Amino acid sequence: MLKEFQISLSIFFLFTCGFLYEMTLKPRCFFSCTPAYKAMMKPEDILRHRRNIVFLETTNRLEPSPLVSCAVESAARIYPERSIIFLMKGLDNNSTHLPLNASYPGFSLLSAIENVFFFPLVMETLLQETPLFSWYTQINSSVEKNWIHISSDACRLAFIWRYGGIYMDTDIISIRPVPEDNFLAAQTSKFSSNGVFGFHHHHSFIWDCMENFIEHYNGKIWGNQGPGLMTRMLRLSCNLTDFREVKDLRCPNLSFLHPQRFYPIAYLKWKRYYEVWDIEPSFNDSYALHLWNYMNQEKKAVIRGSNTLAENLYRKYCPITYKNLIQGKEKMDQGEPKDTLSPTPH
Ligand SMILES: *[C@@H]1O[C@H](CO)[C@@H](O)[C@H](O)[C@H]1NC(C)=O
Ligand SMILES: *[C@@H]1O[C@H](CO)[C@@H](O)[C@H](O)[C@H]1NC(C)=O
Ligand SMILES: *[C@@H]1O[C@H](CO)[C@@H](O)[C@H](O)[C@H]1NC(C)=O
Ligand SMILES: *[C@@H]1O[C@H](CO)[C@@H](O)[C@H](O)[C@H]1NC(C)=O
Ligand SMILES: *[C@@H]1O[C@H](CO)[C@@H](O)[C@H](O)[C@H]1NC(C)=O
Ligand SMILES: *[C@@H]1O[C@H](CO)[C@@H](O)[C@H](O)[C@H]1NC(C)=O
Ligand SMILES: *[C@@H]1O[C@H](CO)[C@@H](O)[C@H](O)[C@H]1NC(C)=O
Repeated sequence: MLKEFQISLSIFFLFTCGFLYEMTLKPRCFFSCTPAYKAMMKPEDILRHRRNIVFLETTNRLEPSPLVSCAVESAARIYPERSIIFLMKGLDNNSTHLPLNASYPGFSLLSAIENVFFFPLVMETLLQETPLFSWYTQINSSVEKNWIHISSDACRLAFIWRYGGIYMDTDIISIRPVPEDNFLAAQTSKFSSNGVFGFHHHHSFIWDCMENFIEHYNGKIWGNQGPGLMTRMLRLSCNLTDFREVKDLRCPNLSFLHPQRFYPIAYLKWKRYYEVWDIEPSFNDSYALHLWNYMNQEKKAVIRGSNTLAENLYRKYCPITYKNLIQGKEKMDQGEPKDTLSPTPH
């Protein structure tokens, strides 16, 4: 009975996908079409497919910045057969059915992409049945200075434990599929990031990370529950050596991916993304590009016609975002910098 229901749901899903694919190609839909099948589906229907790509927004912000929109759109294009899940804290409160109008152009254009799904981020539910739940119920989040980052660190672990897939920060532009299921990304030699990682659901590494998270919890140390946690857990099971050439490290139960895979431009050089290059890098050894939005305190934006590396990446990997959210030079000069890029953890 359940099986029959699942099959008919799948058929319905396939059918509507085909239909919506047609619709997503029509720009006039972007500000008005809420795909009806999405409203009818429960999160669990989507999430149980277990090969999701997940993004998180742990502030109450709803409208994605152009960079966030580009991250999500590029993932949707690179992984057409996967569901792209965007969990937003701000949707927690009846705004799931918020009218999609011109005030939310980024939200609207992403909602119209067939394999992008927005769901409310409810920490209390997400963390249930994980080691993080007892920690969460005891902590007073209003006295935690870095709560936006810490809650994000916790939620990404819990999500990947529960459902499996790949977590990505919202300042990562996907350029080709990651050919690994269980991986951590090296930010530099011997140091892991937690800005992107992928695991099968119920992978023991993630469970161990969540246990270590609460055992060594210290909200005052920046990154202690984030990259620091991933790195110390990795050291327990893997002999971390320097990378040779562009070769990943094979560790028990996971791969530790070379910095070129996601961080071909290191964080001290983040401004290079907003510069014009004589010859642009090919990024042939990369799966996705981390744009270090956290470093971008001066809020550099992508401007149409500027010919910066970032502009050309947007044009190529997130054309709908580029077309709809990126302002031209003329408009910017009139003092209308519409977007401010919000900080993204790590
Ligand atoms: C829901 O929104 C109202 C008003 O914006 C706010 O006061 C309340 O705290 C929110 N509730 C939750 C659970 O976020
Ligand atoms: C959400 O909306 C429903 C129906 O509009 C209403 O009954 C409910 O009280 C709302 N909940 C919150 C938390 O605002
Ligand atoms: C769009 O929706 C928001 C949220 O409901 C509302 O406040 C705003 O007035 C609407 N804007 C237009 C142009 O309809
Ligand atoms: C959390 O901390 C704030 C600020 O110190 C305090 O006002 C509040 O009562 C605390 N909440 C709980 C549930 O302990
Ligand atoms: C690898 O995974 C298996 C199965 O989850 C687990 O039993 C084993 O301890 C893991 N090995 C390491 C080194 O973490
Ligand atoms: C770790 O790797 C280094 C370099 O390959 C090697 O010399 C050392 O013996 C290894 N240690 C362990 C515990 O495997
Ligand atoms: C990158 O890949 C493209 C296509 O496979 C190839 O044409 C190009 O020569 C490569 N560039 C480098 C620097 O390897």
